[in-house]
Amino acid sequence: MTVLGLESSCDDTAAAVVRRGADGGARVLASVVHGQAALHAPFGGVVPELAARAHAEKLDLCVEEALARAGLALPQMDAIAVTSGPGLIGGVMSGVMCARGLAAGSGLPLVGVNHLAGHALTPRMTDALDYPYLLLLVSGGHCQFLLIEGATQFRRLGGTIDDAPGEAFDKTARILGLPQPGGPAVEAEARAGRPERFPLPRPLLDRPGCDLSFSGLKTALMRARDQVVAENGGGLPLQARADLCASFQMAVHDVLVEKTARALDLAEAITGAAPALAVAGGVAANGTLRGGLKRLAAARSRTFVAPALEYCTDNAAMIAWAGIEKIGAGAVAPSDLTPRPRWPLDQIRPALLGSGKKGAKA
Ligand code: KG4
Ligand code: ZN
Repeated sequence: MTVLGLESSCDDTAAAVVRRGADGGARVLASVVHGQAALHAPFGGVVPELAARAHAEKLDLCVEEALARAGLALPQMDAIAVTSGPGLIGGVMSGVMCARGLAAGSGLPLVGVNHLAGHALTPRMTDALDYPYLLLLVSGGHCQFLLIEGATQFRRLGGTIDDAPGEAFDKTARILGLPQPGGPAVEAEARAGRPERFPLPRPLLDRPGCDLSFSGLKTALMRARDQVVAENGGGLPLQARADLCASFQMAVHDVLVEKTARALDLAEAITGAAPALAVAGGVAANGTLRGGLKRLAAARSRTFVAPALEYCTDNAAMIAWAGIEKIGAGAVAPSDLTPRPRWPLDQIRPALLGSGKKGAKA
């Protein structure tokens, strides 16, 4: 089965062609992503109207490019899959309209995919991971623990009650005068820093369960910076900046690793098995975090999967693959094509703030 996927729910316009072979394994034949970072940079955040217009302009070009790179034509597809939520509604609508046009013109079946399901099912595309597994989704827009039990069976075990970790990295960079995106900048600075110098809080560790909080950490970091600046007559020494970055990164690491351990316990209790651990989202690029999660999985004899970064961040290959999984599970519903700004994966557990997703980016 070969599926064309379209993604336009935030600030990346993407198209991809993914094939599932007879053995069930996935092959990404092409994955094209046109980011809009430069378009939104002057405004300090994603401008929904600009994003929607840019998606509408770029989608068909991305589709053409993806098909050309795959060396295939539209009639050679078996279906089209498109993100129909959650996300910025203008962008989601641009994608659904484009996909509807392509489907009408080609007669191909059309599948509406939940963007979060795309992230959640990625470890099956990249590493043929079997169900059930625990996914830690950590990006600039969301942070949640998901137990993946089937193509349409997702259980949210916990998530952030305020900021997402990527957001916290970005704000930390701003507070310390480092460039955006903050994650890579803070990680680079932290290499020369001492993580034990500033005792920053480990929010919510004293409470049971695997919910997380990152907004207090950012405030504590700001206070620590102000104190150093006051002690140094108005300046922030470079070593102190590196130490602040290292201390912040270690706090995020400690909280995420400990909460992941608890989520693993919970996943084990629910399934009666020993689910593998997977991580996805832009923050999964962080070496310290990856290392901590890898050690945790090894200590518990669990398989650990961290997909290549191009499939951790927003892309259309994960949407095409989620479409393939949905078709395989016989779970395609016409109502899934309705563009939705909000669409929690777990329909049973009540959503936390923003269903573990905060800000425009999902
Ligand atoms: O998944 P993503 O590309 O977009 C969404 O938010 O959906 O994630 C972007 C986020 C940004 O906040 C960025 O600062 C963070 O991921 N990030 C990192 C690293 N690389 C990117 N955070 C920590 N360490 C990194 N190396
Ligand atoms: Zn995403």
